[in-house]
Amino acid sequence: MITLNTPTPVAHSGILGLGVYRPERIVTNDEICLRIDSNDEWIRERSGIIERRHAGADETVVSMATSAARKALTDAGITAEQLDLVIVATVTHRYQTPSAAAEIAAALGAVNAAATDTSAACAGFCYGLGIADGMIRSGVAKYILLIGAEKLSEIVDFDDRGTAFLFADGAGAVIVGATTAQGIGPTIWGADGTQLDAIIMEPDTYTAEKTGTPSVLTMQGQAVFRWAVGQMGDACAKAMAAAGVTVNDLAAFVPHQANNRITDSLVKHLDLPDHVAIARDIQYSGNTSAASVPLALDRLRENGEVKSGDLVLMVGFGAGLVHAAQVALVP
Ligand code: UT7
Repeated sequence: MITLNTPTPVAHSGILGLGVYRPERIVTNDEICLRIDSNDEWIRERSGIIERRHAGADETVVSMATSAARKALTDAGITAEQLDLVIVATVTHRYQTPSAAAEIAAALGAVNAAATDTSAACAGFCYGLGIADGMIRSGVAKYILLIGAEKLSEIVDFDDRGTAFLFADGAGAVIVGATTAQGIGPTIWGADGTQLDAIIMEPDTYTAEKTGTPSVLTMQGQAVFRWAVGQMGDACAKAMAAAGVTVNDLAAFVPHQANNRITDSLVKHLDLPDHVAIARDIQYSGNTSAASVPLALDRLRENGEVKSGDLVLMVGFGAGLVHAAQVALVP
């Protein structure tokens, strides 16, 4: 029997750099309420959102992602030519194909990189981190650029009071590479495709452009809320156990920024000690789907609430329904 060669594995992987892009335009709750029967107080109380950012015409998934990626490369101290793979987690790139990743790789000058998009909605960044971790340790790639980028304002129905105030735009990127000690814990992930209709976008953006029928995101908010509150705490606990850490080792908790009440419930479920910083980027960024975890991590790092080498617990969850959780060291 023929035995095939495999790449030479490396022992450890970790996050080497982080960068984000926040769109220019700030949109207040009052502005959102011009189109829906709601008010600033209700939106703050029920979701935690004070304001969010909507991308302008010249701020696309690709441009926002490219900007975030440049900052992540600088933060990691590597060049675009050193990248072996670009993974983009997004559900709002304007084409079904070609991928956003191929366009971003070209824009960056990542001439040696393979490029692909991944579709895991609001869990996309944590899914991507699990994939990148495995590819680095298996020796398939030396440096991977992982980006979560969304322009959800293009697919939100601003007359739907269940979603209009929630979703927003932005991008966050990390560089994943080999490290001297393991910096990314095992990814605990899963999918429940029986709940396809809980969050769904129809039609896809390409068809929308061709037919003039806009893509619209619809969500059964209460069902998603119940699922997240009921199951994400256990996923987080499993991610910590798999990595061999406890809540006492954490510096911060960075859940997908879906709703502050979901975050509160998870904090309670996990019984997080007071020293653990809780990401509340939703207050100023809204729910940016695949971009929300890196955006929230960046906010904590910018504010000095976490520093390089600190341990954070991350969890992403959303349309599919899918979820992924892991712990990781801050770059
Ligand atoms: O990112 C992917 C994952 N997504 C999520 O995790 C989102 C999960 N879901 C949620 O965050 C919440 O379900 C929402 C924030 C979307 C909605 O909050 P809720 O507390 O679940 O609202 P609800 O749909 O249960 O509605 C409660 C009440 C209703 O009034 P009654 O029947 O109690 O009189 C609604 O009519 O609030 C009313 N309502 C509103 N009132 C003012 C619903 N939307 C609004 C609104 N403004 N925008």
